[in-house]
Amino acid sequence: MKTFRIAVIAGDGIGKEVVPEGIRVLDAAGQRFGFQFAWHFFDWSCEAYLKTGKMMPADGLDQLRPFDAIFLGAVGSPDVPDHISLWGLLIPIRRGFRQYINLRPVRLFEGIETPLKGWKPGQIDFVIVRENNEGEYSDIGGRIYGGTEDEMVIQEAVFTRRGVNRVLRFAFDLAGKRKKHLTSATKSNGIIHTMPFWDECFRAMSGEFPDVRTDQYHIDILTAHFVRHPDWFDVVVGSNLFGDILSDLGPAVVGSIGIAPSTNLNPEREFPSMFEPVHGSAPDIAGKNIANPMGQIWSGALMLKHLGASEAANAVENAIAAALAESRARTPDIGGNASTQELGEAIASEVSRGR
Ligand code: NAI
Ligand code: MG
Repeated sequence: MKTFRIAVIAGDGIGKEVVPEGIRVLDAAGQRFGFQFAWHFFDWSCEAYLKTGKMMPADGLDQLRPFDAIFLGAVGSPDVPDHISLWGLLIPIRRGFRQYINLRPVRLFEGIETPLKGWKPGQIDFVIVRENNEGEYSDIGGRIYGGTEDEMVIQEAVFTRRGVNRVLRFAFDLAGKRKKHLTSATKSNGIIHTMPFWDECFRAMSGEFPDVRTDQYHIDILTAHFVRHPDWFDVVVGSNLFGDILSDLGPAVVGSIGIAPSTNLNPEREFPSMFEPVHGSAPDIAGKNIANPMGQIWSGALMLKHLGASEAANAVENAIAAALAESRARTPDIGGNASTQELGEAIASEVSRGR
């Protein structure tokens, strides 16, 4: 029987509550479709940091490298500054493994109340492609004259031709396989070096994809269009910062951040890719057993697709849709009072049953 070897980093807060539900559903999918998982657990987290002074061991990437994929919950704790948890774990994995694509689907499901009035399932269905390795999230910069009137802080953004072109190419390719429409997020009016460069690369590459229709908007009005015209979008590509912002806004527009999944993809498959929900560790609800596990489970479906188990991936996505449309097992964020496990179990049994 085919066995997928998966590195699991549950992390902190609700990460530790939703990851077991993701595993439950993926195991159910394996049972139905004839494959299995060897889960290998790493306790890397802020909790570990507080004990050891490290988010992950110095050879962390070497330990992860042999796995087929990484299944991550969330990291972050009120007791540890966020830049430490992010730069100590997530960013080294995303960069070290050249996961330069961050893919975040946004879809309106039946049974979910969106804060936007009048939209129906099927009318909102797009994908955000975020650049995941460079851009605004750089550690180049510094601070001088700290604490004085002369204090000066510089934060550099890094846009390379290679880095911009590879994310744009991925987005054009993806749009070509969907509704053939690509929107680029820019801000070339205010940011006068990197963003005009991004726009130039976008324009040049659109010549290679004559059947993909293109649009571009400044990020400020683009956020307004996400709210007012969410049906305008098929694939949306943005830099690290713009993509990050859009990919919280997108899920919010379709009802719950607890449902949104993401892939940190190394398209060349030289390194393992990483699958995680968009949400963080949610310290405000951690330990209450009410976190929605759907974002984690849907991330698992994306992982199945990546591993080549497309039929199983579709079964998991259908089970999520069915659970939302019909099930009375709903966590509080989507209007019910079910626990994390109850919702996980409902989806797992839907996967096992199959329809
Ligand atoms: P968050 O996503 O953890 O929470 C934002 C809000 O959404 C909270 O009110 C939370 O209760 C709610 N929420 C999130 N996920 C939910 C779920 N599955 N079910 C129901 N409600 C859910 O974002 P926040 O509060 O900005 O960050 C908390 C911590 O997580 C910080 O330390 C942050 O750095 C970290 N974080 C980690 C990420 C990661 O590991 N990839 C991503 C985002 C934040
Ligand atoms: Mg974010």
